[in-house]
Amino acid sequence: MGFTILVLLMSLLPLSLAGWCREPLLRIRTRQVTYQIRASQRYYTSCGTWGWSSCTRYRDVYRTGYRPQYYATYYTERVCCTDWTGSNCNTDVDECLRGTDGCSHICDNTAGSYTCRCSPGYSLQSDRHSCRDIDECSSNNGGCEHTCRNSAGSYSCDCNIGFRLNSNDHSCDDINECTEQSSGCEHTCFNSVGSYHCGCYVGWHLAWDQHTCLGNPCVDIGTPQNGERICTGFVTNETCSFECHPGYYMIGSAERSCLPSAQWAGEQPQCPPKLCDRLAPPENGYIRMPCRREYTSRCAMGCNDGFYQSAGDDANKDCMLQDSGVGWSVNAFNCSRK
Ligand SMILES: *[C@@H]1O[C@H](CO)[C@@H](O)[C@H](O)[C@H]1NC(C)=O
Ligand SMILES: *[C@@H]1O[C@H](CO)[C@@H](O)[C@H](O)[C@H]1NC(C)=O
Repeated sequence: MGFTILVLLMSLLPLSLAGWCREPLLRIRTRQVTYQIRASQRYYTSCGTWGWSSCTRYRDVYRTGYRPQYYATYYTERVCCTDWTGSNCNTDVDECLRGTDGCSHICDNTAGSYTCRCSPGYSLQSDRHSCRDIDECSSNNGGCEHTCRNSAGSYSCDCNIGFRLNSNDHSCDDINECTEQSSGCEHTCFNSVGSYHCGCYVGWHLAWDQHTCLGNPCVDIGTPQNGERICTGFVTNETCSFECHPGYYMIGSAERSCLPSAQWAGEQPQCPPKLCDRLAPPENGYIRMPCRREYTSRCAMGCNDGFYQSAGDDANKDCMLQDSGVGWSVNAFNCSRK
């Protein structure tokens, strides 16, 4: 009987043939060894005169004892090296397939081993397994003209307001807001690097929003006496139209627009009164002077000497509204002899 302790010495010696490794082993065996055990044995013997007495004597006796003896044997065994398998140790173990590689990102199997790789934008760490994001922005701003933004596994460039990322994804091009209609300028647009500004045509000025244009005010246009005006406004390109009250007629422009020069186009309108026809004197009578023909004028008539105004007649004639125009009031006035 005997027991064996197998101690595996962990270091595997790299060895000649690909796939094969020698594994040094230490085997400790025991065997039974015998040895002599000496003991003192007591015995009795006759002694004395004629041997009548009995004496006690001692003698050495020997028996065989057993004890285990340990001994070690060192030997090597041909085994498959790590990463190799099969009866001939020539089949590569695909650690990647097994999932025993421990690579953070990508595992590449190789004959007898494997290597770890990282996705683009990551770098393999000194442990040869883990991957860490590369901060591309830390060097040379990532090649970005304006702003570099690092992200997991990548980075991107950004441009300041007023610029657009070039198709090369790194440089920034000025946006011509004016030609791209993105300016929102109401009249004119002036592009500049990274920006733009709006302008207005002559006669307008930029509003507080810096985009819309407000017309400049024109001079006071006034309202004609005996007339009215209806205006859309009093700044550039606004218009006013005029009307005269009944009994008056218009001279000048019935419609005027506010010019960029702050003046109004056309002529100042006026509403003079319409004229009644020349008044004919009554029979045997006359017209008192002065007699004006303008609308609202009143003329008085009188009778020649020897003639008298009929009772109940009205000597006054009023130039008043009639149909679409003006005319003298129609009232009886006769001069007759008494
Ligand atoms: C102003 O009026 C003129 C004449 O009607 C017109 O041609 C022009 O476009 C107007 N301008 C604006 C800014 O409205
Ligand atoms: C009075 O005068 C008007 C014209 O003013 C005339 O038509 C009318 O016949 C006259 N009447 C008399 C009674 O003469």
